[in-house]
Formats: sequence, structure tokens, C-alpha cells
Amino acid sequence: MAKVTFIEVDGKTHVVDVPPGWSLMEGAVKNRVAGIDADCGGCCACATCHVYVDPAWEAKLPPKAEMEETMLDFALVTAPNSRLSCQIRVTSDMDGLIVRPPVSQH
Ligand code: FES
Repeated sequence: MAKVTFIEVDGKTHVVDVPPGWSLMEGAVKNRVAGIDADCGGCCACATCHVYVDPAWEAKLPPKAEMEETMLDFALVTAPNSRLSCQIRVTSDMDGLIVRPPVSQH
């Protein structure tokens, strides 16, 4: 398990256990984290699972694939630490990861 912290726009914090192999998006949706809509179900076709990764974690995650980069162009307000949570496959090394959904998804 990896303990992942999702911090909503209003500051509400969810610390959830995400099993290795799940996507970060699945961990959010199954734990009712607001702001991660995941309209396409994880097919990398909607960008409604956009999150900002805590700066301390940016370099520790696997790099974005081209498909993720392309789909992030459809997210409203992106930053260098923007990721699509459906494209991040959770591993036990991600224990302690912190991410924040954007204001635009509320
Ligand atoms: Fe649609 Fe991630 S859930 S792009």
C-alpha cells in the first residue's frame, strides 16, 4: 500500500491507502475525493483527472508519456507539476505522495 494525500481546493484532506497497481485516479475516485471526475474512466481522453503533484514529488514519479502530455493540453490551468492521475500507476515507493486537484475541477 501507498498512503497518498489528496488535498482539495478548500483544504479538505484525504489520506488514503492505494494498493500498488491502481492508478492514482482510482485511489481518489474510490475514496470519494472531490475534484477528480475522471469522465473517461482512465482512458487518457478527458483530462478531468488533472492534479498538481507536490513539488517534493515531481521528480520521483515516472515521466509523462506523450499521450499524457497531449491530453494535458486540454486541462484548463496547467503547471509544470500537472499530471493526469489516471496515468500514474501507484507503487509502494509512492508512500507519502501528496497531490491537489485544481480549482477548475470544482
Ligand atoms: Fe480521463 Fe484521466 S480519467 S484522462
